[in-house]
Amino acid sequence: MDSLKVQGGYPLRGELKVQGSKNTVLPIMAAAVLYKGVTVLTNVPMIQDVYCMIHILEAVGVRIIFTDHCLALDASEVRAAEIPLEDVKKMRSSIMLLGALLGRLGEAATSYPGGCSIGSRPIDIHLESLRAMGAEIRDDGSRIRACAGKLHGARIALRFPSVGATENILLAAVMAEGVTVIENAAREPEITELCLFLQKMGARIAGAGTGTIRIRGQSPLRETGYQIPGDRIVAGTYLAAAAAAGGDVRLTGIYTPYMTAVLDAFRRCGCQVSWDREAACLRSERRIQPLSLVSTRPYPGFPTDMQSPLMAVLAYGDGVSVIEENIFEGRLDCGIQLRRMGADIRVEGSRAWISGKKELYGACVEAGDLRAGAALAVAAAGAQGMTSIADPGHIRRGYEAIDRDLRMLGGKIWW
Ligand code: UD1
Repeated sequence: MDSLKVQGGYPLRGELKVQGSKNTVLPIMAAAVLYKGVTVLTNVPMIQDVYCMIHILEAVGVRIIFTDHCLALDASEVRAAEIPLEDVKKMRSSIMLLGALLGRLGEAATSYPGGCSIGSRPIDIHLESLRAMGAEIRDDGSRIRACAGKLHGARIALRFPSVGATENILLAAVMAEGVTVIENAAREPEITELCLFLQKMGARIAGAGTGTIRIRGQSPLRETGYQIPGDRIVAGTYLAAAAAAGGDVRLTGIYTPYMTAVLDAFRRCGCQVSWDREAACLRSERRIQPLSLVSTRPYPGFPTDMQSPLMAVLAYGDGVSVIEENIFEGRLDCGIQLRRMGADIRVEGSRAWISGKKELYGACVEAGDLRAGAALAVAAAGAQGMTSIADPGHIRRGYEAIDRDLRMLGGKIWW
C-alpha cells in the first residue's frame, strides 16, 4: 500500500501557489455536459477525482483533452446516460451528473454511492428535488434510473442546504422549462462558482451565493472558458501544517473572502494571520492557543473539510479544545489515528475534546479519508520523528502533490 512519509520538526517557510479547487471543478465538469460543444477550463487540479470524472464523462460520450492543468471538454455528442458502477464507487460526487444528464438527455442512470468512512451520505434530497422537477425516478435499492420527458421548473425548499443537491438542481434547472427557485440553497463558494460558470455559459441565474437561487431554464448556451479558483481547503491544510510545524508561509492563487472562518480560527489559535484578496500569510511560533468550541456548519460557518486539519493543530494546543462535527458523523475518527501519535483526544457523540500536548511523535497511521489523511500530514509536520501515513488512495483524490508542495515550503515529506 502507498504510504506518505513525513519527517517532522522542520518549520515551513516560503511562498506557494495553491492548486485549483476540487469541489469547484467537479460540478463544472458535469455542467459542461449541458452545452453541445466545447468548454475549456484552466487551473484544473491534476488529482484522482478529476481523472475519475474524466473517465465517466468519456464513457457517456464527451471527448476530452487534459494537459498541463487545462481541460477541454467537447460535449457535442453525449450518447450514453449510464454512469458505470465502478466509477460511482470510486467517486461519490459522480451523483452530480444525474441532474446534468437528465437535463441534456432526458434520462440518467447511476448507482447508490453507499456509505463511506465519513458518514452514511444519503441522496434523498437530490432525488426528491429532481422528482419535483418532473423526473420519474425508479430505484431498486442499488441502481437508480431517472427519466423525464420534460423537466419543468419548480419551487424547491431544501430541508438541509446540501451542496450536492443544490448543484444537481441547478444543472437540471438550466435545461428545464420555466423558473426554478431553490430555497435554503447551499451558499458554499463552490455553488457561487458553479452559478458564475453557468451564467457565463448563458444560463439565467439570480441569487448565487445566497439562500435563494432563481433559475430561468432553457436559455441558449454557448462555448465557455473558465478559470478554476484556488482550493480553499488545500490552502487551509497548508496553513494548518505551518501552524503545527511553526514557520512563516504565504499562499497565493486563492480567493481569501471564501476562507474567512478558517483564517479566523487560525488567528484565534494564536497564529499571526494576514491576507489580501488573493493571498494569505500565516506565521506560527508553535504556541497554539486552545479553542473553546469550534462547530462545523454550512458556509459561511467553519467547513467540515477543515475540521480534521484543525484538530491536528489543536492537538498541539496549550489547553483543552472542543470540536463539534455537525455535517458528517464519521469525521471525528481522525482523532483515533492522531492518538497513535501521542495526541490526547476523547470523542463522545458529535464532539471531540482535544487536550493539547507539547509534542507528538512519529508513528504508523492510516488515512481513513481524504481530509483525515491530510490532517495526519499536518500533525506529522510538527511531530518528533518520522510518521508513515498508509493511504489507500485517499490523499491523491484531492491533493495534486502534497509532498511537492510541503517540500517547497521546507518540509521533509515524500511518497
Ligand atoms: C460536498 C463536498 C464535501 C463537503 C460537503 C459539505 C464535493 C465534491 N464535496 O459534499 O467536500 O464536505 O459538501 O460542505 O463538493 N445529505 C442528506 N441527503 C442528501 C444530501 C445530503 O441527508 O440527499 C446530508 C449529508 O449526509 C450530510 C449533509 O447533508 O450530512 C451535507 O451533505 P452535502 O452538503 O450534500 O455534501 P456533499 O455535496 O456530499
